[in-house]
Amino acid sequence: MTHKLESKFGKYGGQFVPEVLMPALVELTEYYNKYRDDAVFNDELDYYLRDFAGRPSPLYFARRLSKEYGVKIYLKREDLVHGGAHKLNNTLGQGLLAKYMGKKRIIAETGAGQHGTACAMAGAAFDIKTEVYMGERDTVRQRMNVYRMELMGTKVIPVKSGSQTLKDAINEAMRDWVANVETTHYMIGSVVGPHPFPTMVRDFQSVIGKEVRTQILEKEGRFPDSIVACTGGGSNAMGIFHPFIEEDVDLFAVEAGGSGMKTTEKEALHSATLCTGEDGILHGMRTKVLQNKHGQILESSSIAAGLDYAGVGPELAYLADIGRLKPCNSMDSEALLAFHDLCRFEGIIPALESSHAVAYVKKAAAQGELGDIVVINISGRGDKDLDTVMGMRK
Ligand SMILES: Cc1ncc(COP(=O)(O)O)c(C=O)c1O
Repeated sequence: MTHKLESKFGKYGGQFVPEVLMPALVELTEYYNKYRDDAVFNDELDYYLRDFAGRPSPLYFARRLSKEYGVKIYLKREDLVHGGAHKLNNTLGQGLLAKYMGKKRIIAETGAGQHGTACAMAGAAFDIKTEVYMGERDTVRQRMNVYRMELMGTKVIPVKSGSQTLKDAINEAMRDWVANVETTHYMIGSVVGPHPFPTMVRDFQSVIGKEVRTQILEKEGRFPDSIVACTGGGSNAMGIFHPFIEEDVDLFAVEAGGSGMKTTEKEALHSATLCTGEDGILHGMRTKVLQNKHGQILESSSIAAGLDYAGVGPELAYLADIGRLKPCNSMDSEALLAFHDLCRFEGIIPALESSHAVAYVKKAAAQGELGDIVVINISGRGDKDLDTVMGMRK
């Protein structure tokens, strides 16, 4: 059944873009509407998700961590997806759509480098020329991912403007798209940006939550009491939450609380947009945004590059407003402790992004907030973060 895509989530979402981009968004929406329920498209996507990405990812009972934290914990192992993060679920979906649309070039932005790496993989798999914008600061802290992209034939373009992080990379990618809309698909890496991206990326990532539904029923014979996911733009969170929205399951979106230093007029020194952001326009969407009293975007900050974003997906902003999900956060220091817990107790090295979700479970379980069974989305593996963690050792 083909149903209309949501373009707004309450007052959030929409298409706040220059007029020259409207034809590209209309074209993309039409193609996605055409193929989202198409059997041939979905069979081909399933093939790539299974044989290339390695899905389904396991749902693993974390026996020792459960004992330590005092709640039954299952880990959704997106760290085991090819490339080491959930990002490939989305780039395979969009890459295949770009192929069906006859696009000759893919552009993208990346923060932690995980989305860029996933774009490079999809670009190589589908034989489409791929170029990735990355803030220069991020190219330094994630240099292994830059090299990985280059190995797979992708050109990485460092962005020297602004804070040289994700938001500046998005601005540059948007400029490129305006200039090259006819031949180029802009592969947005999270549930952000103008419609149809928030809906389309959520749908591609929902494979995570759909698998959890089956897996947890097999293991427990019921749904979990809570699901916890870290939230930058919000794609791993929406991917695992969406198939549970109608169920009696509590959803926790864990943002980066940063270093705990005092914020300034220009810097938020955290990335907790759902928790503290205000209604605004950023990157083509209306959503909650970290901004000063003049509406200028604040520089966000987190130990986890992938959470370092001053906006958040519009659907998450809406779900937070209506009370369907709980926005919460973990500090850099708490995430680091949780990172070490997962390494030591389970033999799993998580991404610093995912470590924020683990850290929240530690705090919330102690308060009895999560019920008896909790699923944590381990959105990625931590190999990319080892330099950062080693740098923090006293
Ligand atoms: C491992 C990992 N987890 C989480 C995120 C945050 O993105 P999102 O909120 O879209 O899932 C990133 C972003 O790069 C990431 O690399």
